Amino acid sequence: MKATNNLLITESLIDGKWISGKKTFDVNNPANGKTVAKVADLTVSEAKQAIKAANIAWKKWKDTTAAERADLLYAWYSLIIQNKDQIAEIMTLECGKPITESYNEITYGASFISWFSEEGKRSYGDTIPSSNPTNRIVTIKQGIGVVAAITPWNFPLAMITRKVAPALAAGCTVVLRPASETPLTALALGKLAQEAGFPKGVLNIITGKDSSGIGKELSTNPLVRKISFTGSTKVGRILMSQAADTIKKVSLELGGNAPFIVFDNANIDEAVKGALIAKFRNSGQTCVAANRFLIQDSIFEEFTKKLTIAVSKLKTGDGLKKDVQVGPLINKSGLEKVQEHLKDATEGGAKIQIGGHVIKDLFFEPTVLSDVSTQSLIAREETFGPVVSLFRFKNEKEAIELANNTEFGLAAYFYSQDIHRCWRVAEQIESGMVGINTGMVSTASAPFGGIKQSGIGREGSKHGLDEFMEIKYLSFGGN
Ligand code: SIN
Repeated sequence: MKATNNLLITESLIDGKWISGKKTFDVNNPANGKTVAKVADLTVSEAKQAIKAANIAWKKWKDTTAAERADLLYAWYSLIIQNKDQIAEIMTLECGKPITESYNEITYGASFISWFSEEGKRSYGDTIPSSNPTNRIVTIKQGIGVVAAITPWNFPLAMITRKVAPALAAGCTVVLRPASETPLTALALGKLAQEAGFPKGVLNIITGKDSSGIGKELSTNPLVRKISFTGSTKVGRILMSQAADTIKKVSLELGGNAPFIVFDNANIDEAVKGALIAKFRNSGQTCVAANRFLIQDSIFEEFTKKLTIAVSKLKTGDGLKKDVQVGPLINKSGLEKVQEHLKDATEGGAKIQIGGHVIKDLFFEPTVLSDVSTQSLIAREETFGPVVSLFRFKNEKEAIELANNTEFGLAAYFYSQDIHRCWRVAEQIESGMVGINTGMVSTASAPFGGIKQSGIGREGSKHGLDEFMEIKYLSFGGN
């Protein structure tokens, strides 16, 4: 198969047709503010149509076999890989991330499709011994129905495939609402899904600026059986409460405030490498980004010095340039949040080791702050930017207390070479994912998700499929 000619699509996809709508909105490149494309600005009434189409398509799609669905998913996966150059460019243009990161995201995001194309074939039920000698008990798993997926701008491809692939593999149909900052990657995926041969109405994509109106429709329409959302805890709360009226199944992947602990017996050079990954991926704009670096007193100076040197070598700029490692922030409000956190931290006594300024427009210097107060904003909220904030601790007990002192519980990281400590700390940390001597936890084969106010449910792994399935119990009597 050859690469597809033009993947810069600006229309929405409903019931197999490309829809322009009455208005358009601009998608801008955060690296230079230029308009990349004008995209269909659809409304609640088109969202309703998409849900209807998905519901009609579901009646047939649910009766296809897992193997038939796997073939289509695998064809979709292959097309994404064949078209990775075009998709990577579109992704960098609309969200600003360095092009090497866009390529990485394509590999990562596509891996959810290949993973779930296989996993769908293994959605086993149980046979259960019955206490009644004449009865037999069996369970089967079935796709839940129409799924609404609402996805963020920071991973314009992977956050879609992590939801849509398991939903389709399970026999569900989907209405996807991608972030209005990054609809172009989503529409390219839609075009390739069509090319792969998915029947009309199985995957629908609604682009539009009216995020609260479309979100309300997706979370309240009775035909939608499940809503899966990645984004802020604030919006997650709203969607969850809206979904309550029709008792929808809900999966939420929300904000984080990840601790990154370095103990005195850590390999400091490895911890510095891990810190760069955990902090600077996508310019710090990830929910799993390390937000609070907790460093043991006796190694604080050494770690700070080594990390500051490493950060000084990071190259910031337009993500389309090959050697750039840190791109712009997504928009003005993202930049303002970083500035507000920095101001608050320095007013509270934090010292700037490096960085601390806007370079130009939405570009912010990779920054290291030391001796940050635990009372600062940065300690409580995710900064979502290229700022490392270093806090001190004295012993393991204090480190765990500080790490858990947040309403969030998505990812956590720590470095130690003591295996007993590794188990102890990993078990006591309150988060859905723990990186031990690594700054990266994301992979299709592992369950991604949070506890506390970081979310509900898991994506990826064998558990990611169950989120889109119901267990039906069959009781056979009179044997
Ligand atoms: C996120 O944290 O925003 C997603 C990151 C990932 O899947 O690695």
